[in-house]
Amino acid sequence: MKGILLAGGSGTRLHPLTLATSKQLLPVYDKPMVYYPLSTLMLAGIRDIMVISTPQDLPQFERLLGDGSQFGVQFTYRAQPTPDGIPQAFLIAGDWLGDSPCALALGDNLIFADQLNSTLTQAAKRTHGATVFAYQVRDPERYGVVAFDNLGRALEIVEKPTAPTSNWAVTGLYFYDSRVLEFSSKLQPSPRGELEITDLNRIYLQEGSLNVERLGRGCAWLDAGLPESLLDASSFVHTIQARQGLLVGSPAETAFRMGYISAEELKNHALKMSKTELGRILLNIAKSDEEIPRPLA
Ligand code: TTP
Repeated sequence: MKGILLAGGSGTRLHPLTLATSKQLLPVYDKPMVYYPLSTLMLAGIRDIMVISTPQDLPQFERLLGDGSQFGVQFTYRAQPTPDGIPQAFLIAGDWLGDSPCALALGDNLIFADQLNSTLTQAAKRTHGATVFAYQVRDPERYGVVAFDNLGRALEIVEKPTAPTSNWAVTGLYFYDSRVLEFSSKLQPSPRGELEITDLNRIYLQEGSLNVERLGRGCAWLDAGLPESLLDASSFVHTIQARQGLLVGSPAETAFRMGYISAEELKNHALKMSKTELGRILLNIAKSDEEIPRPLA
């Protein structure tokens, strides 16, 4: 399965922070925002990843992430000329994607959950249909909202409803089968002029192949698109890391735990950041490899 990290958009709700830089390069505590969804894709076992951003921001992503070898993955970069909607990513990636199944992660979404590795690898293994993740929120009208019947089956999915029929929001992580390009090509712009990811998900829902996984209380899903949620995301990461000494959203650690890079490679990566707490934690992880088992986040 291939993966797309979508990190374009206009970030207007974060102005003036995003007037001169990309939203997804802003810090979430001690890492650039894009590290979090990147770690999530890697945790799903995905190593062939296209990074999509605006023409002006794309060079900064290349500077930050390189060719991917430091994380044992491969990056391809492509620009989205104008922010015409999330599923446009599949059209932009079309020739690269071919008929491969694909996961899409929004560059400003952070998911933290126990057993996330097994949840994601299961979603990546499904060969037919799509998998999305739903999370209970207080403000569903900001998101795509999914309603369920008594048996817990997804009934309908609506983009930014004014009167939401449930408080289950669809998160910014999606897994699609090999028909995703074909289905995306059929989408028409919505009244707000964008191709809507909810319309793509509805195609799968209507043919009965949309699998909606509900993320429970033990999970955190944060999107960092507003000043307050950006602060919340930073506080969350800081709290977990300071309390447990575990990292959240580190592609280097994920690469090591997934077996994409060796302890030696992790050590070399960490040494480049030896003045930081992040570097010190990574170094300890590399050193303790022989002593402790490798739990996955
Ligand atoms: P949004 O948060 O909906 O849009 P935005 O990032 O442009 O922000 P704002 O509403 O403040 O102007 O986008 C969700 C994610 O998807 C975000 O990571 C940006 C990305 N995105 C694209 O890369 N291209 C697009 O065409 C759209 C609509 C979003």
